[in-house]
Amino acid sequence: MRYLHLRAGLVEANRDQSIETVLAVGCGRGVAETALAIDFPHLHFHLTDVASDRTPNYQMAQRMVTEWEVPNVTFGVMDIFAPADRRYDLVTTIEVLEHLEDDDTAAKALEGLANRAVFTLVPFADAAANADENRLRRVWENNEHFRVGYDEARLRELFHGVATVRGTYWADAGLGLRLYLQDASVEEIRERAAELVRQAREDVRSTIPTKVSQAAGIWSLSYP
Ligand SMILES: C[S@@+](CC[C@H](N)C(=O)[O-])C[C@H]1O[C@@H](n2cnc3c(N)ncnc32)[C@H](O)[C@@H]1O
Repeated sequence: MRYLHLRAGLVEANRDQSIETVLAVGCGRGVAETALAIDFPHLHFHLTDVASDRTPNYQMAQRMVTEWEVPNVTFGVMDIFAPADRRYDLVTTIEVLEHLEDDDTAAKALEGLANRAVFTLVPFADAAANADENRLRRVWENNEHFRVGYDEARLRELFHGVATVRGTYWADAGLGLRLYLQDASVEEIRERAAELVRQAREDVRSTIPTKVSQAAGIWSLSYP
């Protein structure tokens, strides 16, 4: 689903702006971005993550790029808070901002890296959920998230020129699929592939959640 949502953002950015280069910040395994690079061979993708004892973690994507001879992907180490020496047309982050205590500075840094557009996908939470001390403690203990999530208003505060906001991981579509995929075996996934792909596609909608009961994620595309 990361792939589908990032693809929706990329298609929109590509329609509105001239996009030739894409920078993924905090890319983790980088598989969604690599799949997109195969889909969009005329764009160059630079996949990065911060250096720590657990990262970078994109070795599987590097193997895909080598074995399948994907020419338009490069990899690197990048800390969003460190000075950078070049800019990219579209800068993307998926599930990164919630891990950063100073998300205002991180959002400014993302904008500083972008020639044209910034795509950010984060957990969704309404104001009530973010004010709930128990939830805040749980997301920190379980995932090291500094906040439960973001809503449209907070994304519009963080980023300039927000053009589009969309929900992800909808309760009646992608959220169930995401939970199912955590435990399902490869054989089971293969057997149910067509149905699962349909469910994933149902997660791509043009609506914005307002309550945590509706969706678990939200993304924005902005032209700073
Ligand atoms: C939950 S993971 C998400 C990984 C991947 N984008 C995904 O969707 O699976 C959070 C990512 O943020 C990265 N990260 C944390 N601090 C960072 C920083 N200061 N600069 C860049 N990336 C950072 C981590 O290394 C990690 O890969």
